[in-house]
Amino acid sequence: MIEPMGNAGRFLVEAAERLGVRLYAATHKEVHEDYPDRLRAALVGVCATDLTDTPRALADMEAFCRQHAVAGVAPCFELFTPLAALLAERIGLPGNDPRLARAARNKILMGEAFAAAGIPAPRWAVAHDAAGAYRAAQVHELGWPLVVKPAEQGGSWGVSVVDGPDRLADAVAAAQQFTHAHPHGLELDTRALLQEYIPGAEYSCDTVVAGGVAYPLPVVAKDTTEGRYRIETGHTCPAGLPAPLVRAVQHTAARAALAVGVRNGIAHTEVKIPPGTETPYVIETGARPPGDNLCEVIEAATGVSEAVAHLQAVLGLVPDTVPSRTDAASIRFLLPEHGGVLRRVVIPDLPGTHSEVHLRPGDVVPEPADSTCRIGHVVARAETADQARGLADRVAARSRVEVG
Ligand SMILES: Nc1ncnc2c1ncn2[C@@H]1O[C@H](COP(=O)(O)OP(=O)(O)OP(=O)(O)O)[C@@H](O)[C@H]1O
Ligand SMILES: [Mg+2]
Repeated sequence: MIEPMGNAGRFLVEAAERLGVRLYAATHKEVHEDYPDRLRAALVGVCATDLTDTPRALADMEAFCRQHAVAGVAPCFELFTPLAALLAERIGLPGNDPRLARAARNKILMGEAFAAAGIPAPRWAVAHDAAGAYRAAQVHELGWPLVVKPAEQGGSWGVSVVDGPDRLADAVAAAQQFTHAHPHGLELDTRALLQEYIPGAEYSCDTVVAGGVAYPLPVVAKDTTEGRYRIETGHTCPAGLPAPLVRAVQHTAARAALAVGVRNGIAHTEVKIPPGTETPYVIETGARPPGDNLCEVIEAATGVSEAVAHLQAVLGLVPDTVPSRTDAASIRFLLPEHGGVLRRVVIPDLPGTHSEVHLRPGDVVPEPADSTCRIGHVVARAETADQARGLADRVAARSRVEVG
């Protein structure tokens, strides 16, 4: 696993146990020291390297893989998915297309890959600074609102929906604030990406690809905040779309995954469907398992373990993607109204739900501008999507979050 420190790490650990697979991680020594206990305990070995130094990381990982007779390379962390593709090619294991792999990390290259493949996606332009952004927005007729985001980043960091020209300079500055990615220090492309704003409801759909064959996974409805910052507030599976639209989303997500070179492994794709249309527009796709506990939500609803499917695909096996049940699940994130210090958090325990608190009293709560401000979450399971969403919403509404 190339950097399993993220949200999917714990699901990959469970999946490996189920499959009888021994897990090794490639990471940085200091990052490994901060791994959750369960992840650290599950690893048979660690290749400590510098993932920001591609030649060195590839040499270290190649030697490690040969020494331990590693049978598959699982990309986990979005910014290192191109590195995973290069490593798999180098040691002759199933992997993604290294010539396209950077498009799964860099949203400018992704825009080019989607255009080349004819995939419906927002029109876009690149800006190096605020003045360039004004010009690009006009020349490319992106209209208002438009979206400004970093070329390389995740977690909605630095993403703004901009209503008019007055706000553009601030949004470009926000998108360009990240020169290096946390926690590895990887140098980022600091260009700002401007995109046409796609209205409508938002969905995600993961695709597992094995030997170049795409196996669609369930479609999930995604809720976000409105306004300038779009932070995910929850996800619900099934998505509540009519069957033909589910298939359209799955088809588009599979095309997007293949367009960024996914050949063996999973991809997480986000789409929006403008009202009055049946066309999913791809907002982005990442060649890694989903975050946000989506592995848990999707498995609770359908019985499909995306983590198992991902490991199977990178091992060259046919992934298990056939749903074994038709239930529903929904996750809601507890967000603060403003930043400060967390004083108290109480999440009620209703039957059919379970919750987790991410921060402790005394912890600093960031301003609600990206997903780092989340205080906790609740997952609800029920027979239908409406029931699951309603239950999760009730728990969220009855939760007490005090930030001083
Ligand atoms: N072109 C667009 N039109 C409409 N909404 C958009 C557009 N681009 C981004 N958004 C909104 O902003 C959110 C975050 O954008 P994006 O997914 O590109 O950034 P990210 O940092 O990769 O986010 P995350 O990791 O949270 O998914 C999207 O989920 C969507 O709600
Ligand atoms: Mg996104």
